[in-house]
Amino acid sequence: MLSFQRDGLYEGELLRFALLKGVIRITEKENYTDSFGFQWTKFAKTQIDRYQRSSKQSHDRFFAVTGWDREDLTGKNILEVGSGAGRFSHVVLQNTNANLFSVDYSNAVEANFGNNGPHERLKLFQSSIYELPFAPRQFDKVFCFGVLQHTPDVKESVKCLTEMVKEGGELIVDFYPLKGWHTKIHAKYILRPMTRKMSHDKLLSLIERNAGWLIRTYKFFDIAGVGKLLNRFLPICDIRNTLPPDLSKEELREWVILDTFDMYSPRYDQPQKLETVEGWFKEFGFKEFLGSVVNYDKSNSVTVVRGIR
Ligand SMILES: C[S@@+](CC[C@H](N)C(=O)[O-])C[C@H]1O[C@@H](n2cnc3c(N)ncnc32)[C@H](O)[C@@H]1O
Repeated sequence: MLSFQRDGLYEGELLRFALLKGVIRITEKENYTDSFGFQWTKFAKTQIDRYQRSSKQSHDRFFAVTGWDREDLTGKNILEVGSGAGRFSHVVLQNTNANLFSVDYSNAVEANFGNNGPHERLKLFQSSIYELPFAPRQFDKVFCFGVLQHTPDVKESVKCLTEMVKEGGELIVDFYPLKGWHTKIHAKYILRPMTRKMSHDKLLSLIERNAGWLIRTYKFFDIAGVGKLLNRFLPICDIRNTLPPDLSKEELREWVILDTFDMYSPRYDQPQKLETVEGWFKEFGFKEFLGSVVNYDKSNSVTVVRGIR
């Protein structure tokens, strides 16, 4: 049985920390993650393996990155921070017998509940990484995928995650890599100062209206052999290196619209150097840690640091 940071969170404080639509809420109603609430409500099922025809991208990415053994996880307490619509919650619940405590700061928790709840091994919380409701050092495993770059203080975010890991437990994070000055020579970083301030509806409809010709141009550049050089200047997600390889035309359009909105709408987008994040693991008391680039699918990869406390 886990304990919570404030006694009686479940009982005495339920009125203040409302249980709403299957999720325990420990947050103000609106915060900087609104774009994610909007995005995961609109695209609640797009990336969930259960709804895919063939590829199991979330499953493959999760096990490639964690290297975890399903049997080993039986009865373990796992914390997931920044779960979005619950693509990885789904993988954990479907493939292991672990108890999953899953947190997101945005309204996306409702999409997650719609995809995965109610489930006897799932507890969902709407809470910030900076105010996690759990007492420290209780979790066997903590993972945080696709989140750190979108938080205002990435180092503090890593610190808050490390505090949740018990002695001998494991933390795994991924993040956008900062590879050098050229990382930010990209349409995303040129346009974001404008797009992140647009209303979510306006931005989404702008992306929807332009998705067709952008996909065609991206593919044309690729076939012409100039994709590596030119596609970074197209305001569209990286189709070749982030999306599953076997999507139909309609699925591709949906994934592109989702991922492009995910690039241009968030308040924060702060890529990090691998060595910097490794340094934080050390600073926050992790004895063993290792950064790496993990490949999954045919051409996708993700930058990761894992550590044992
Ligand atoms: C790009 S989404 C990734 C969601 C999911 N992990 C995935 O890979 O599909 C980033 C998520 O991080 C959440 N997030 C951002 N800042 C957060 C914070 N301070 N605390 C908890 N979650 C946060 C957002 O609400 C959003 O759902």
